[in-house]
Amino acid sequence: MIRKYVFGHPFETEAVVEEIAPSEGVPAYGEIKTDGEFVFSYKMDADDIVYGLGESNRGINKRGYRYVSNCTDEPNHTESKYSLYGAHNFIIIFGKETFGLFLDYPGIMEFDIGYTRQDELKVRCGDADLDFYVIDGESPYDIVKQFRKIIGVSYIPPKFAFGFGQSRWGYKTADDFRNVVKEYRDNHIPMDMLYMDIDYMDHYMDFTVNEEEFPDFKAFVDEMKAQKIHLVPIIDAGVKVEDGYDVYEEGKEKGYFCKREDGSDFVAEVWPGWTHFPDMLNPDAREWFGEKYKRLTDQGIDGFWNDMNEPAIFSTPEGVARLKEYLKEFMEETEEAPGFRLGDMVRSLANSPKDYRNFYHNVGGRLVRHDKVHNLYGFNMTRAAGEAFQKIAPGKRILMFSRSSYIGMHRYGGIWMGDNHSWWSHILLNLKMLPSLNMCGFLYTGADLGGFNGDTTRELLLRWLALGVFTPLMRNHAALGTREQECFRFEHVEDFRHVIGVRYRLLPYLYSEYMKAALGNDMLFKPLAFEFPEDKMALQVEDQLLLGNEIMIAPVYTQNAKGRYVYLPEEMKLIKFLPDGSIYEETLEKGHHYVEIALNEVVLFIRRGKKIPVAEPAECVEDIRTDTIEMLGYPEGEYKLYDDDGVSTVTEPAEKF
Ligand code: GLC
Repeated sequence: MIRKYVFGHPFETEAVVEEIAPSEGVPAYGEIKTDGEFVFSYKMDADDIVYGLGESNRGINKRGYRYVSNCTDEPNHTESKYSLYGAHNFIIIFGKETFGLFLDYPGIMEFDIGYTRQDELKVRCGDADLDFYVIDGESPYDIVKQFRKIIGVSYIPPKFAFGFGQSRWGYKTADDFRNVVKEYRDNHIPMDMLYMDIDYMDHYMDFTVNEEEFPDFKAFVDEMKAQKIHLVPIIDAGVKVEDGYDVYEEGKEKGYFCKREDGSDFVAEVWPGWTHFPDMLNPDAREWFGEKYKRLTDQGIDGFWNDMNEPAIFSTPEGVARLKEYLKEFMEETEEAPGFRLGDMVRSLANSPKDYRNFYHNVGGRLVRHDKVHNLYGFNMTRAAGEAFQKIAPGKRILMFSRSSYIGMHRYGGIWMGDNHSWWSHILLNLKMLPSLNMCGFLYTGADLGGFNGDTTRELLLRWLALGVFTPLMRNHAALGTREQECFRFEHVEDFRHVIGVRYRLLPYLYSEYMKAALGNDMLFKPLAFEFPEDKMALQVEDQLLLGNEIMIAPVYTQNAKGRYVYLPEEMKLIKFLPDGSIYEETLEKGHHYVEIALNEVVLFIRRGKKIPVAEPAECVEDIRTDTIEMLGYPEGEYKLYDDDGVSTVTEPAEKF
């Protein structure tokens, strides 16, 4: 049962696709104040658990901290951060009373979940203009399924996107790309995608290709295709200010960029230098920007990642002027020691709230100040592409994932989890985000395996890959200047071949479960508590997940570990994919177990009475054989395998297969 309460004059975010008539009266739970700002407060019971918030920091149970929905280019995902790249305002309170809330509001929103006072949940935002949805259900899982239904079917990528991909910021030349593919293929490490970061472009201009390096880009795309590799270029939000660059010229002429109050085009610095932001909230501008992807699809490209779309701002001319003024005053008029002020002032150039208040969107002729709708920018950039793909390649699936997002974007693309670090704690953060993201509709997700910032290690990468084996997006990506972390750079390449190989062996299962989850508005990754709500232990588990309907995963996320403790909420079969290609099976009773897991093994647990399909190893998705699939697990189990051509759009409801 879903009730919608309308406060003030909400901005139409298009997060919800189902018509729900507004309810009269006051919501059944908590208290609401609307004098100026909007505040929802609820008194939590000592044992209440709070789920949700999609891509956000800390635990699966969000209780005990503060989270701020404010899409932010945040390169340091330390525990102290309140905001990351997404804004997913959906929570579930599970306990004395069980209900879900979706606060459809595109500006900054704060969730204080027992942070200020341990028994108090407070959700706050600046304007009392929002749609407030209250969802009643039998259980958190039931509430998620109801919510997912009203926000529309999740994005489904092409099948190749379930393969492994290699990425690195820094590949520049055609030979850089060729070498990566050659090493993967020569070493027989499976691979389907090679990502192109910003250096493939001509001076970071969107929809261009550096012609010196790629004089015949189509031929290069074909050369990669011949090796069964899909190239996936990045597209950034900011359009370079550059006379003669047609995207810039056109956008300027048509008035499709975000504007300052005086009507001039707003300028922000991102990778290309000064840029303009296409007005993604203006349907005409969105259509215009979306059509540009065709320049690359025409050359054979069938996948993209959208970046810097919070939108990230390195600086603005106004910010630089403010800094100069400050420095001048400081240098000329004070003798004081600067303390941290100078450094803070310089750092405040990037992503400054002042700048986000300084530009406007044209929404149906009405000017809307950016900060009021900030969290919708990435959503609408990806929507621009998604809507365009329906025209560019009707009936076909194109790979698309974004950095920034809002609920609703899950219909147009996936997300990756942004600029993490080569830290052990980030394996766990990756795992914890998965079910929360699924609650909010984002199914095609994954983190930069091995870690983006900082130097990885062989051990960290292998352990992270052993989690990545299960995430729909399985990509190794790293930042410029960090240690090279392609799998072939490390000793005993056979271990990488094996671990990634297991992904391909499990692909029929992972693909089937993905499709069932997407088309059935279901979760792919569930906290144990969702299936075992009566089990007090299961309620607390934060480092294991159920994946699909058959398996549980419990990756290793500590350095030098030889295994880990695992909690089984029921009898299960422990499955180990051993490096010699064989599979070890052992039935384990419900309860706690220490399970040894070597660095070159992949472990999963099959739930009682279930079985899963396992294919023979293959080096790319296209080569996975379906005629030799074997079943693993409990012989009495039944499994419904889903398969299709991997590229045609699928809209059948999940019950059909
Ligand atoms: C951003 C992205 C990262 C990318 C870099 C350069 O930091 O999050 O993935 O490599 O920009 O484009």
